[in-house]
Amino acid sequence: MQQTAIQEITAADTLDALQLVKTKYVGKSGLVTKELGTLGKLPPEERKTRGAEINVIRAAIQAALDEKEATLKRAALDAKLQSEAIDVTLPGLGLPSGGLHPISRVYDDLIAIFTRMGYEVAEGPEVEEEHYNFEALNIPWYHPARELQDTFWLEDGRLLRTHTSNMQIRYMVEHDPDLKMVSRGKVYRYEATDATHEAMFHQLEGLVVGDGISMADLKGTIAEMARGLYGAGAKVRFQPSYYPFVEPGADFAIYWNNPRGESKWLELGGCGMVHPNVFKAVDDLREQAGKPRLYEGKTGFAFGLGPERIAMLKYGIPDIRYFYANDPRVMGQFRGEL
Ligand code: PHE
Repeated sequence: MQQTAIQEITAADTLDALQLVKTKYVGKSGLVTKELGTLGKLPPEERKTRGAEINVIRAAIQAALDEKEATLKRAALDAKLQSEAIDVTLPGLGLPSGGLHPISRVYDDLIAIFTRMGYEVAEGPEVEEEHYNFEALNIPWYHPARELQDTFWLEDGRLLRTHTSNMQIRYMVEHDPDLKMVSRGKVYRYEATDATHEAMFHQLEGLVVGDGISMADLKGTIAEMARGLYGAGAKVRFQPSYYPFVEPGADFAIYWNNPRGESKWLELGGCGMVHPNVFKAVDDLREQAGKPRLYEGKTGFAFGLGPERIAMLKYGIPDIRYFYANDPRVMGQFRGEL
């Protein structure tokens, strides 16, 4: 029996096969185990010698089993190490990194300039009620800006905001004066697109309210922003203009020398002194919300500008539609730069 067992152990070439041999001989009902069970039937004199014999056989089989098991395990481990061999010294593949969209970068620059000047940053809805986008901003129903071709109307009577000036109203209803606020976000106009017009674009709105705020404060603020964007030599220009929610109103432009040697006036946005009707509309909304009327008699200025225009000049992008076309040839140039 010992010999056959040893032969079978030698022949077993996997751990599973070896396990079968083990069970066959030294398992609970294995051949050796059974042989030990027959000892009780032998006369006492034979029992002792026979028992010793079987134990020797059993020890030999067990030793052969243990040795073979160790050999097979080592072989299995070697094979596994072979197949999973990884050269950890090879360089990795590297993941392509993204980058901040040029509009986000311009916003970040602008917000940094205004937070340095003590402005709070606010955000508000793009889907807006007519009242906040128009009425409260002193834009009556007959104003041309309300014409259907300018505004995306929603079926429930709301609209996609046409400017970020809705945030003037929302912020003043929520916050007591005095205040300094800037708000960034998307705006929508229902119009044909071309190199300088998109149906969706961005604005930065600014609002300052206090006592004795003047046009000089407004000009100084825009000039400070221009210096923050374009350096100490930046010039600003104001031209009278009309927006229903400011009086007087103006458009402003910044003169800028870019690294490509181009220098031109960049028409950037509108601004002006907050119209008294706007403060009145805010106090009406506050009263409806159970808040004190704190705005009538205050003074303030507001401005709104388009970061696309800054980004187009700064990065030499000739067409506003490139910003939103997701063309990797354009946006790929901003990879990795944060
Ligand atoms: N909301 C105006 C626009 O979209 C810009 C503006 C903002 C003008 C604030 C004056 C004051 O054109």
